[in-house]
Amino acid sequence: MWVIANWKMNGNRALCEQLAEALRSRQDDLQSVRIAVCPPAVLLPQWQQVAGYDDIVLGAQDVNEHGSGAHTGEHSLQLLNETGVSLVLIGHSERRSYYGDSPRVAAKLATVLKQSAPAMTAVLCVGESAAERSAETTFVVIEAQLTEALSELPLATVEQWASRLIIAYEPVWAIGTGVTASPEQAQEVHQFIRSWLTAKLQATGTKIPLLYGGSVNAENASALFAEADIDGGLIGGASLDPQAFVDICSAAT
Ligand code: G3P
Repeated sequence: MWVIANWKMNGNRALCEQLAEALRSRQDDLQSVRIAVCPPAVLLPQWQQVAGYDDIVLGAQDVNEHGSGAHTGEHSLQLLNETGVSLVLIGHSERRSYYGDSPRVAAKLATVLKQSAPAMTAVLCVGESAAERSAETTFVVIEAQLTEALSELPLATVEQWASRLIIAYEPVWAIGTGVTASPEQAQEVHQFIRSWLTAKLQATGTKIPLLYGGSVNAENASALFAEADIDGGLIGGASLDPQAFVDICSAAT
């Protein structure tokens, strides 16, 4: 099971220390859970400083697909590596809707997964809007997002990159709304994604972790994580509360 914190444009140095301490105090209970924290980029050095030696993966919320150059305000994978980052969120719905990221998702995903030294993990975010769900086009939307995202990764090298791919299903209508997908709703889409991956990547596709994101909290995490094709969560608001995030990690044990 994976539990990943996405702080978005929130948090501060004090929260880095508070969350690191909260996780450290429960590390014996949480050994079976893969935990990652994705603070804002400016807090990455702070997180590395307070928790760099803990078994917590340090993640970034985005990456520029270019190696270096005239991209003011952006962060390359090499620069993120400098701060100990080994996991990157790709194609989060907020980057797709507010910053027009969708056409760049395939290039960003390939940038992360083609780098094997140091080995990088990519969390590809997919999800439908409320209107798309109401129109009963959820599976069409998810399949299109998956197809486009993998379009720059050669299937011939799937064994080299698929083991470092995680997919997060985040229904847009559940993100930040307090309206969580029911376990049944989430499982239905996760099962569809699992079937699509298996058809496309065969046995390799069965091993790719599928995380749910969208108003996960300490109360609903256990029921979601109990579903057959839900392998953990991508946590937004609740990850800003150290106790709530530790409780969600505990639900994944
Ligand atoms: O990436 C996780 C995020 O989109 C979910 O946010 O606040 O609904 O848990 P939240």
